[in-house]
Amino acid sequence: MAVSLAGTEGVGPHGQDLEELELELLLEAIYRRYGFDFRGYATASLRRRVWRRTHLESLTTITALHERVLHDEAVLDRLLKDLSINVTEMFRDPSFHLALRERAFPLLRTYPFLRIWNAGCSTGEEAYSLAIALHETGLLERARIYATDMNESALAQARGGAFALERMQDYTVNYQRAGGERSFSEYYAARGGAAFFDPELARNIVFAQHNLATDRSFNEFHLIVCRNVMIYFGRELQRHVHELFLDSLAPLGLLALGRKEAIAPAEIAARYEALDAAEKLFRRSG
Ligand SMILES: C[S@@+](CC[C@H](N)C(=O)[O-])C[C@H]1O[C@@H](n2cnc3c(N)ncnc32)[C@H](O)[C@@H]1O
Repeated sequence: MAVSLAGTEGVGPHGQDLEELELELLLEAIYRRYGFDFRGYATASLRRRVWRRTHLESLTTITALHERVLHDEAVLDRLLKDLSINVTEMFRDPSFHLALRERAFPLLRTYPFLRIWNAGCSTGEEAYSLAIALHETGLLERARIYATDMNESALAQARGGAFALERMQDYTVNYQRAGGERSFSEYYAARGGAAFFDPELARNIVFAQHNLATDRSFNEFHLIVCRNVMIYFGRELQRHVHELFLDSLAPLGLLALGRKEAIAPAEIAARYEALDAAEKLFRRSG
């Protein structure tokens, strides 16, 4: 009997694209074997990154990468790095930080103790920026910033509190545009190509691993900052994370998403009022 080869390339007899199937099986395997859940991520960017890793490992199919990932954790680590895009900077998008300072912080002033969740904090630049702005507005002493990410090696860097010295010029400009009131260099000491930030800033920051796709709410917060994270998620996962945030926000708590994120679907958006529509800064109303 002739064996049909339909299905080795393109769309098979059951209608599923082979590449899509291989990608699904890879993500399922990573989840079942290691607990990292990328199954709800937006496919286009995920597919690009998986192919890049496949080629860098000198392989030619996603299935070959799948086999390697299951048997060699070093390959898994490299793939995880590719999939968790860690690009960040201090006072990134200064207009966002200005909006926080001018619109959110005055509302937070009314609380005797502040719990802030910086979800998807990457290597810590965002958490340090928040700490500096809170310090300058007299709120840092009463605040605790829970800065979380799924990527443990990004968190290890964050805990070190040192960032590349060569970035400080750009960060100084960002800081000034974000409403910074001092000389930015007051906050760090330069040593051996790195800028070591004042440990006092980190005293109220807790860096911890948390996966938005699989972990639960762990506290009630007055402010949640989550920027440039959900843009990589598919719709269902975005909804899941928005539900997690609603579970984690105090009544009248603030949600700060930044320009690139969207607040959707409509029934979630209806639970908030906008404090700054362009910067996607919201206050929980229901
Ligand atoms: C592009 S960085 C954004 C960093 C920072 N928020 C900013 O805007 O500069 C995205 C971060 O989200 C993290 N991330 C991606 N998926 C995640 C998940 N499911 N749970 C927690 N963090 C996640 C990545 O590890 C990465 O550090």
